[in-house]
Amino acid sequence: VDAYSQLVAEGYLQARRGAGTRVAADRLSVAAPEALARDQANIRHDLSPFQPALDGFPRRTWHLAMGHVLRSASNERLGYPDPAGVPELRGSLAAYLARTRGLHLSVDQVIVTGGTRQGLALAWRALLGGEGRSVAIEWPGWGGVSETATDASLATIPIPVDEEGILVENLARTRADAVAVAPAHQYPTGSVLSARRRAELVCWARQGDRLIVEDDYDAEYRYDRQPVGSLQGLEPDRVLYLGSTSKTLAPAVRVGWLVSPPRLVGALVEAQRRCGGGPSPLHQLALAHLIERGDLDRHLRAQRRRYARRRDLLLQALARELPAAEVSGAAAGLYVTVKLPQGSDVPSVLAHARTRGLAVEGFVDQGPALVLGYAILHETVVEPVVEALAACVRLAS
Ligand SMILES: Cc1ncc(COP(=O)(O)O)c(C=O)c1O
Repeated sequence: VDAYSQLVAEGYLQARRGAGTRVAADRLSVAAPEALARDQANIRHDLSPFQPALDGFPRRTWHLAMGHVLRSASNERLGYPDPAGVPELRGSLAAYLARTRGLHLSVDQVIVTGGTRQGLALAWRALLGGEGRSVAIEWPGWGGVSETATDASLATIPIPVDEEGILVENLARTRADAVAVAPAHQYPTGSVLSARRRAELVCWARQGDRLIVEDDYDAEYRYDRQPVGSLQGLEPDRVLYLGSTSKTLAPAVRVGWLVSPPRLVGALVEAQRRCGGGPSPLHQLALAHLIERGDLDRHLRAQRRRYARRRDLLLQALARELPAAEVSGAAAGLYVTVKLPQGSDVPSVLAHARTRGLAVEGFVDQGPALVLGYAILHETVVEPVVEALAACVRLAS
């Protein structure tokens, strides 16, 4: 009896009153979420929305670029660098961002950072830090924004997001000094800020001389049409623009950038100096080399094709396995958002998923929803993964 109870608890057997005990059709399908959620290390398929395809990192190209840097950099280059970043990278980024994202900028406005999170921390501290200041943030949204703002003693004002992006009319009713948005692909809803909201947002910033902090997250990945341009290109004097290599190369590179309105550059560079400067100049020079040689463009073209294939397979499998679920945010980025039927228990879906070796994110602020990253989901496993996930959703509804 003990053995049977244990096997039932672990999902190997199904016991039904009056119908006897049978081997579970899918042996994990009846597992109690708490019992198996212990199995944290056993992740077989990571649907994290935060990872690019790490096996696609251009190792050889990076190796060649690092070799070039080590051969060509003079000894003087090994001293303390300019806290704003090495001139080569600032120059190549300025040209790259103008060409690919429509930014209006000069080289002086570019500051190299250790990624978006570090850029945000720098911006809040240098520009807004102090008692009584507040920043509006998208809600739900990426924890990196709220955490860095809170660390800089700023009050955060959550503003809802719908399928057109942040609700600017709600924002206009607040006394926020700044707003942080991810217009190209909002996390976790996947919304792309509509043209109408873009115009409203710029108008809001102009009226009160306020700051828009633009996290140009996922902007490199737009599948159905040309990427929408940056907000910075519309309003360079009131937008502080942030970008990063975390999704285009790999999070481990830890190189990002910000583009500041000219009047704020001095304060930002001074804050960067005080906290020890940006990433290693050697890595900065390697990235500059990649951009100058067109290697980054080539890499992104290949990655876009690979991600588009994975995304299409995921959408097909979701339509088949979870026909009632509403999928959004598929136009851009590396994840889709799947709205589940009302009443679905998201924590329970996640726990069931974990028992099957699937790491998935979810949120409940706008009704039950899952966030499915497909960047590291190999084509051959998309179908079985979605089948398993659909079983978890059924179990938890
Ligand atoms: C919304 C959003 N922006 C930016 C980033 C990148 O941050 P970083 O450059 O610090 O790695 C992430 C990473 O997960 C993110 O979710």
